[in-house]
Amino acid sequence: MTPEVHVITHPLVQHKLTLMRQKDRSTSSFRRLLNEISMLLAYEVTRSMPTQMIDIETPLEPMRSPVIDGKKTVFVVIMRAGSGFLDGMLQVVPGARVGHVGLYRDPATLAAVEYYFKMPQEMHERDAIVLDPMLATGNSAVAAVQRLKATQPRSIRFVSLLAAPEGLANFHAHHPDVPVYTCAIDRQLNGHGYIVPGLGDAGDRMFGTK
Ligand code: URA
Repeated sequence: MTPEVHVITHPLVQHKLTLMRQKDRSTSSFRRLLNEISMLLAYEVTRSMPTQMIDIETPLEPMRSPVIDGKKTVFVVIMRAGSGFLDGMLQVVPGARVGHVGLYRDPATLAAVEYYFKMPQEMHERDAIVLDPMLATGNSAVAAVQRLKATQPRSIRFVSLLAAPEGLANFHAHHPDVPVYTCAIDRQLNGHGYIVPGLGDAGDRMFGTK
C-alpha cells in the first residue's frame, strides 16, 4: 500500500503558515492564524467524504440532493497542541463529535503512555480526523492512531500543520493506510526533536506558556 500524503499548497494556507513561523508573532496572532488555517484544512480533509442523496423540497420543487453519509465525523484531539486546531475545524463542521487522546513519554522507557482516552459512541460508523499540529518524531501520532484503531472507526485521516520527514516515515511504517494532510514537510528534526526550520513549540506558542 502506497501511503497518501496531501501537502496543502493553497496560497492562503502557505501565506498563513509563513506568518505563523515568524518568531516575533504574538500569541494572539498565532492563535488567530491557527484558527484560520484550521478552517482551510477542514475543507481539504473532508473533500473525499462519502455523500448520500436525500429527498428535500426547495421553495420551488422537490429534488434529490447530497449530504454527508453516515454518523457525524469525529475530530480526535491529541493533547495538548491538537486542541489548537479544534475551534476552526468545528466552525466548518459544527455537528462533529470530539474525542481526546492524552499521551506522555515515559522518561525511562521512552514508550508512549496513555493517560486519557475518550471517544464518542458508535465509532464504527464515524470518520475520524486526528489533529496534531506537529508530526515531529511521529511517536505520539503512531500511538494515538494505534489506540484509535481499536475503536474501529469507518476511516481515519491525520492532519498536521508541519511534518518532519522522519515523523512521516515513522507514521507510514506503522499506519500506511492512514492519509496524512499537512501544510509543509520541513527539512529535518534537530537533536531536541524539534522540526526545523519549523515554528518552535506549537503548544507554547498557541497557549503563551513560554
Ligand atoms: N512539537 C512542537 O511543538 N514543535 C516541534 O518542532 C516538534 C514537536
